[in-house]
Amino acid sequence: MDIDQITTPALLVDLDTMERNQRRLTDLFHGKAVRVRPHFKNHRVLAFADRQMAAGAIGITCARLWQAERLVRHGIRDVLVANEVAGEGLIREFIELSRAAPVIVGVDNIAVVDEMARLAGSERNLLNVVVDFDLGLRRCGVTDETAGLALARRIVDRGLSFRGVMGYEGHLQPLLPGPDKEKVVKEALTKLVGAKERLEHDGIPVEIVSCGGTGDCIIVSEFAGVTEAQPGSYLLMDSWYAPFAPDFEPALTVLTTVISRTGNERLVLDAGVKAISGERGLPSVLAYSGLLLKALHAEHAPIEIIDPAGAPDVGNRVQVRVHYHDGTVHLHRQMYGIRAGIVEDVFPIEHVS
Ligand SMILES: Cc1ncc(COP(=O)(O)O)c(C=O)c1O
Repeated sequence: MDIDQITTPALLVDLDTMERNQRRLTDLFHGKAVRVRPHFKNHRVLAFADRQMAAGAIGITCARLWQAERLVRHGIRDVLVANEVAGEGLIREFIELSRAAPVIVGVDNIAVVDEMARLAGSERNLLNVVVDFDLGLRRCGVTDETAGLALARRIVDRGLSFRGVMGYEGHLQPLLPGPDKEKVVKEALTKLVGAKERLEHDGIPVEIVSCGGTGDCIIVSEFAGVTEAQPGSYLLMDSWYAPFAPDFEPALTVLTTVISRTGNERLVLDAGVKAISGERGLPSVLAYSGLLLKALHAEHAPIEIIDPAGAPDVGNRVQVRVHYHDGTVHLHRQMYGIRAGIVEDVFPIEHVS
């Protein structure tokens, strides 16, 4: 299939770029004690999870139980849901999934641990959990060692399988590389490794210490005490993240068609917020420097023509760089894998059913 045969708007991944990103990550962790458990939520493509496993990942991280269930059904059994589950329905789903594979879930709340134990009954040892620590993101996670220790004790007392600790220093990813970033990332990781040491000192063995993202994985890869890193964005990247993780290159574009042109003033693309996220800023147009994307409407993107020389006409195809990939991927059902202008593969994107 030629790229011109694709119906627009469509999500494209440049396979050479994506494969370079994977090689860089693999090289970065080569020979290190810290292993990689890449995040699935960023790409949601089972074939990419396979490629990550083939490149040496010890398992896959994901954000939701349904994603873990999809991965397990696909054959990837070592899965960490780096997130909390709560409520009877989700806990029952976790119990059901745990019968199929030892999926690990984050916890930060004693009541949830108690409910897991109550609902699992005699199967409670099938439930694998890690204590989630807040490393400064101020999202989920216990905030200090004492609370983490109390929670770990409760997990052990209730008969669940305690596997270790996790944390995600997401607020530190979008910092430019340099000594300032290194300092604050190391402080955050020290908190997590300190918690592991405290638990072990109190007789609770800690197998997993999981943290990190694309923006700090170089630091994480060499940090003593961490056992695994959870980078996700590195594979596809986007123009928002690129300055904070310059080892990796944006691989995604949205293919669009020019559906209207008003002289040399403006043109309009057939893609708006239903095809490309504008949440972290507006994307730019690939290959034409004289075009300025002005807005994302629901189904349209108006473009100002700065330089009419070579500007595309109605019916021409235009690729728009993806500025925020995590908010864009889930807007599509499939991703077209492109190499040298040819569609090499079409990858289904997983959605909650
Ligand atoms: C818990 C958790 N771990 C890992 C990641 C992946 O981080 P990154 O996108 O920086 O690679 C995320 C992303 O939001 C996350 O929420």
